[in-house]
Amino acid sequence: MDFDLTDEQRLLRDTVRDFARQEIAPVAEELDRTKAFPYELVAKMGGLGLMGIPFPEQYGGGGADTLAYALAVEELTRIDSSVAITMAAHISLGTMPIYLWGTDEQKRDWLPQLCSGQKLAAFGLTEPEAGSDAGNTHTRAALEDGQWIVNGAKQFITNSGTDISGCVTITAVTGQENGNKEISNIIVPNGTPGYEAGEPYRKMGWNASDTRPLSFDDCRVPEGNLLGPRGSGFKQFLAILDGGRIGVAAMGVGLAQGALDEAISYAKERQAFGQPIGKFQAIQAKIADISAQIEAARLLVYRAAILKDRGEAFTLTAAQAKLITGRLAVRATEEAVQIHGGYGYIEEYPVCRFYRDAKILTIGEGTDEVQQMVIARQLGV
Ligand code: CAA
Repeated sequence: MDFDLTDEQRLLRDTVRDFARQEIAPVAEELDRTKAFPYELVAKMGGLGLMGIPFPEQYGGGGADTLAYALAVEELTRIDSSVAITMAAHISLGTMPIYLWGTDEQKRDWLPQLCSGQKLAAFGLTEPEAGSDAGNTHTRAALEDGQWIVNGAKQFITNSGTDISGCVTITAVTGQENGNKEISNIIVPNGTPGYEAGEPYRKMGWNASDTRPLSFDDCRVPEGNLLGPRGSGFKQFLAILDGGRIGVAAMGVGLAQGALDEAISYAKERQAFGQPIGKFQAIQAKIADISAQIEAARLLVYRAAILKDRGEAFTLTAAQAKLITGRLAVRATEEAVQIHGGYGYIEEYPVCRFYRDAKILTIGEGTDEVQQMVIARQLGV
């Protein structure tokens, strides 16, 4: 497999790297502390074409591939996870279902405003009783006089309640099929009566990203808001999660790299016992181990992205990448805090935020245990 980047991929990576260092780094601590959604940064990312990287140019997208998208996510997370998840959830979870299964009309209606970052899209799968058991959907949609009447609740939904949230695509039970639930996808625009995004959660990390519970109370949307064939909603969303896991795995690599960057720079600067702490073997061993693991994990993420771009099966590799990188991010950020000593426990240092931001990577878009299930099933166990 060829891991050399094309000129376009390198250009995008460098553009995002510069943007993250110049525009995000100076405000990341404040956004985290005040839990403020990064509207200005999203607008700027829209201007740079980052909110629609993998979608066709005819809809205002960047026409780039999955690897380019993963590189962009990695570079954002190296500086700030909240901004990265806002972009990643918008692209791979919110907008992707509309691109993959939308009718021409749905694509024309939604994609231009989503690709430009004028509006954000959310993905409504998880429910109070349907987390890892994602098929245990209780939200229902009944077709009556040309309208879906939706009743139910979703939770932990990223990008659902900002001032620029445009829509959420949800799974809902629309009937019975051979004694099983028939689950379909439906687009629910923000502002539809009966659809409410609740108060944002108080989270451990990802503080500047928007995550809320949703409720649907006799919420009516046109029959034409069905996304893809009736009854294929669960499979569609599992396929979306496969792709989403590449983005989250890129976040794991980016966060681990960001932690390593900070640890190296601190180790060179901080003096103890008359020399920089980076001269001590105990610190060198931590830095060397983490850097080797990042390099291996990065190649796995790129492999998953390249397989997807080639149109080959990538479910197994995406789940492996997600499993490895989430754990790596937790370990790398912990080691980075350790290298910073007491200063690592103080919020002025980015590693403190990185440590809090890491844990969700072993939970969101499928827990480690779900990745293990997916991997084992793919291996025929
Ligand atoms: N793509 C397409 N179809 C798939 C698929 C895939 N990757 N995996 C399975 N399917 C199909 C199966 O073939 C099966 O079809 P048939 O009935 O025709 O055979 C159907 O879907 C059901 O599959 P399973 O029997 O395997 O389903 P399951 O109920 O055993 O569940 C699971 C499988 C892997 C555990 C799944 O429920 C899962 O991935 N759970 C985790 C959910 C998750 O990741 N949630 C995260 C939400 S998003 C998020 O977290 C956002 C955020 O933080 C920002």
